[in-house]
Amino acid sequence: MLRTHTCGELRSNHLEENVTLCGWVDRVRDHKGVIFIDLRDRWGKAQIVIGPDAPAEVMERARAARSEWVISATGRVGRRPEGTTNPKLLTGEIEVVCSDLEILNEADTPAFQPGAKELPGEEVRLKNRWLDLRRTDMQNNLLLRSRIVKIMRDHFDELGFIDVETPMLGRSTPEGARDYLVPSRLDHGAFFALPQSPQLYKQLLMIAGFDRYVQVAKCFRDEDLRADRQPEFTQLDVEMSFVDANDVTSVIEDLVVKTAKKILDVDISLPLPQLTWAECMDRYGHDAPDLRFGLEIIDLTEDTKESDFRVFKSAVESGGKVRGILVSGAAEKFSRKDLDVLTAMAVDAGAKGLVWLKLDAAGLWTGPVAKNLGSVVAENIRTALDAKPGDLALISADSFDVTCKTLHTLRKHLGKKLNMYDQSSMHVSWVVDFPMFARDEESGNWAAMHHPFTAPHPEDLEKLTSNPAECRAVAYDLVINGSEAGGGTIRIHDRATQQKVFELLGISHDHAQERFGFLLDALSSGAPPHGGIALGIDRWVMLFGQLDSIRDVIAFPKTQRASDLMTGAPGQVDTKQLAELGVRTIIPPKAAGETNSNVK
Ligand code: AMO
Ligand code: AMP
Repeated sequence: MLRTHTCGELRSNHLEENVTLCGWVDRVRDHKGVIFIDLRDRWGKAQIVIGPDAPAEVMERARAARSEWVISATGRVGRRPEGTTNPKLLTGEIEVVCSDLEILNEADTPAFQPGAKELPGEEVRLKNRWLDLRRTDMQNNLLLRSRIVKIMRDHFDELGFIDVETPMLGRSTPEGARDYLVPSRLDHGAFFALPQSPQLYKQLLMIAGFDRYVQVAKCFRDEDLRADRQPEFTQLDVEMSFVDANDVTSVIEDLVVKTAKKILDVDISLPLPQLTWAECMDRYGHDAPDLRFGLEIIDLTEDTKESDFRVFKSAVESGGKVRGILVSGAAEKFSRKDLDVLTAMAVDAGAKGLVWLKLDAAGLWTGPVAKNLGSVVAENIRTALDAKPGDLALISADSFDVTCKTLHTLRKHLGKKLNMYDQSSMHVSWVVDFPMFARDEESGNWAAMHHPFTAPHPEDLEKLTSNPAECRAVAYDLVINGSEAGGGTIRIHDRATQQKVFELLGISHDHAQERFGFLLDALSSGAPPHGGIALGIDRWVMLFGQLDSIRDVIAFPKTQRASDLMTGAPGQVDTKQLAELGVRTIIPPKAAGETNSNVK
């Protein structure tokens, strides 16, 4: 063993012991001939003192040591002199009085100091990820991730779930994103798809009799990235047989309670609140609403229908809605300039503009369009919003969808900006009764709201034929603080219904047979009723760690452009390698030394 203890381990009960520590030099200070080295490893930091009694060569090596060098230090554990203890460090009462010091490896001047308070830009961190991962915050994040995954694994193990691995090289599963494809060398022109989720495999495991499956599963989706999305991410994937939605959600509820208690010491009471999808869209404009604060959307369509104001009139005439939110007491806080910013946000979200109104002391609306409302409509709006003098109203008039997007964007922004909730609180709920289908914006065809294997609500079976738009799914999403932390459904377990849904989605009989023949055959070979869920592990760690970016809980994440700045992936490959795969690119290969355009 190179060391006797870790850098975070020593306490006053180790006094007078002879120890050897190994680690990275966090900081060196030279105080009138006495050198102090803060030695760091993943367990903590210890102070090494090299005093005048140390052998000359030890003193020489200590003087040479620089940040991020790897050293080992041997010495006696001593008590720090009065007044020099550090209550912030667990090892703050002791120091190691060094008698021997070895330099295990020198280091070039690092791109940044992992021990420094100031962080460099994220690009520098991602490029030098090994240094970034030396930072205490990142070490804590990955430690937290490991703890959360352990809680998950233990939970499912105790409940008799079996962990089964499913293939990475498979056929595309339609989860709604683009696939990452892998060309086949042995069958030129054919491609594997990396799994968007193990959805079909886990259903086949149920059909095979492996009731209660769980897997920590890597998923790959080539989609536009945001702060809470990565092209490769990890799910805690679950499937159960002979269950209804409640059986699945209650297994997850118990896990939520355990995780919140163990990680944050927060008590979550059960059952978790459930909102229907329709209610979410009406009240919050989004299917994963942040329920830590109010600021609910109020429908003003009826209240404004007599209005001659062009903006309201044209929205309603084309089948749209007039909806708004009331920001209590905010009139004074928002200058003209602030309201221009809110309007620009509304426009970014797809709106044509934003009506803002401030209620003055006399109970009258002011604002650029206040006079266009007419007194009856002005009063209707005031009553509907229950506005008081000093309140600010924000109103969107457009299609229902656009008003949802606009008001959700504003609500989310204002909730944070106006400190409307405690940042450390956890609000967990279920969203249920999703529609089975939504219209694909581009093609106008029906698309599955979750995925095509989701069971229709038993009460709505008939609507599959008569009115697909109104057909609800047996689907449940877990929402934590406005983030979709998990989603699942009860599945179709009979061939006829599955074929019917494929048809509705525009997947022809032949195409369904070609792509999903194995599933259809399995469904008619004795498939049990089954259902499940997948939790986004990266998002769970981000949420329970109260962090802002999913990249901070993944050891080696990708950028917004889906590239790895450290390794330079995706990168060019040899033409020989491409030829073996039967692949030719339409972009000529770059000259050696030229950087990949994806690495920015
Ligand atoms: P879904 O597509 O809802 O369901 O995914 C489940 C959960 O995975 C997380 N998630 C992501 N996390 C990070 N980056 C991404 N790009 C990303 N995409 C999704 C979310 C989400 O709630 N097979 C179904 C599950 C089922 O029906 O059992 C599925 O994959 O937290
Ligand atoms: P305009 O006549 O288009 O300049 O719009 C008059 C006011 O109404 C401006 O303050 C716009 O921001 C606002 N407005 C325009 N279209 C909408 C809309 N669809 N919903 C809400 N406000 C709008």
